[in-house]
Amino acid sequence: MTITFIGHGYVGLVTAAVFADLGNTVNVVGHTPEKIENLKKGIIPIFEPGLSELVKKNIDAGRLMFTLSFDKVIPEADVVFIAVGTPSTTTGDADLSTVLDVAEKIGKNLKGYTVVATKSTVPAGTNKKVQRILAESKPKGAEVSYASVPEFLREGSAISDTVNPDRIVIGASDSRAQKLLIKLHEPIKAPVVLTNFETAELIKYAANSFLALKISYANAIAKLSELLGADALKVLEGIGMDKRIGSLFLSPGPGYGGSCFPKDVKALITIAKDNDYAFSLLEEVENINSQMRRDVVKKARKALGELRGKKIGILGLAFKPNTDDMRDAPAIDIITLLVNDGAQICAFDPQAMGNAKTVLPKIEYARDMYSVADGADLLIVLTDWNDFKEIDLGEIKKRMKTLSIIDTRNIYEPSEIVKAGFSYIGVGR
Ligand SMILES: NC(=O)c1ccc[n+]([C@@H]2O[C@H](COP(=O)([O-])OP(=O)(O)OC[C@H]3O[C@@H](n4cnc5c(N)ncnc54)[C@H](O)[C@@H]3O)[C@@H](O)[C@H]2O)c1
Repeated sequence: MTITFIGHGYVGLVTAAVFADLGNTVNVVGHTPEKIENLKKGIIPIFEPGLSELVKKNIDAGRLMFTLSFDKVIPEADVVFIAVGTPSTTTGDADLSTVLDVAEKIGKNLKGYTVVATKSTVPAGTNKKVQRILAESKPKGAEVSYASVPEFLREGSAISDTVNPDRIVIGASDSRAQKLLIKLHEPIKAPVVLTNFETAELIKYAANSFLALKISYANAIAKLSELLGADALKVLEGIGMDKRIGSLFLSPGPGYGGSCFPKDVKALITIAKDNDYAFSLLEEVENINSQMRRDVVKKARKALGELRGKKIGILGLAFKPNTDDMRDAPAIDIITLLVNDGAQICAFDPQAMGNAKTVLPKIEYARDMYSVADGADLLIVLTDWNDFKEIDLGEIKKRMKTLSIIDTRNIYEPSEIVKAGFSYIGVGR
């Protein structure tokens, strides 16, 4: 099939490359000339394991192309995917301006029969609006069907998640679109949920909010464990063995972050409010999440007393390992609070320092993970990159001024850290 993707971010570029790899002809439309020129040469604007190789392979095979123009690649497409960003507005709603803007550009360029499908996460009702825009803007003679096909990939494992998803959700306007989308997804072996727009849209928000809820629940249990002297990791292991609960997303830490959970939880609260339902359960999920970020700073005060003038080394900035994404990373709030208290920060992240410099421009950045320890009074682990798990404690010990570690991801065995001469504070243990 011939497919066009609008947007080449974590969702657009990954799914475009995977569909190209499955043998389709895929065009990707962007709006930044420099990024499109780079993409044509196989230089990708994001870090995602394996993506660079997959993009290059499919460019070389002539199956993956990049352009700035809608008019060249919409008329020939069987399916057009909208995969642009839907960030939060100041009131917590999803900002749909880009989705609606590109819908009009797609509409104007439609020719023959085309299925337009939204991969972007959008509130219930948006796809009906997009359908209206397409119907109003399309040329006479062009036929369009419309679908909501929400995306569930996770940054850091986005390619394998796209090739082996838990499910594919298709909310199509009619059976012709449904059939075409089922055919396109045929090589991907996964159960398919066929439904209407509103249900497909809500499945995405309900899924992300439930995962955020699990994380906040694990964090609340961690807080309680600290107060009771229990080991939260064992408690959560114990409850996770129950098949009805499951063990995933039950790790305590500095709170959820990233480009999806915070904005999607906020959007679902707002969607509920707009429909006269107070989703206070999710408000508490958010409260626990911000409390976990403040809690790291409380622990730093507990370890050091006064933070003014103290040097704190930060290991990890990205909201999770294997990505360079800094959107809503816990590191942003935690470092800002530490800096407000007068601490001097030196940070290192294997991939996210480029993006971090735009949101945290005033802190010092180290050239490697050991340099953050130079003269430090405290080391805080904020992202569980594998490199940090295997850090040479002897080398760290030689460089630090005071031997103290806060491990917000529980990546170390406390007894080993203490045996090596450090004081250790984890989460829930
Ligand atoms: N990142 C994830 O893990 C993830 C997972 C599932 C769903 N989603 C959802 O998918 C959507 C995209 O997320 P993302 O992380 O890929 O975002 P992103 O910010 O990484 O990418 C957005 C892309 O849209 C492009 N774009 C913006 N305006 C444009 C325009 N006018 N014309 C053409 N392209 C334009 C940008 O250049 C960029 O390539 C969001 O709604 C998000 O909630 C994201």
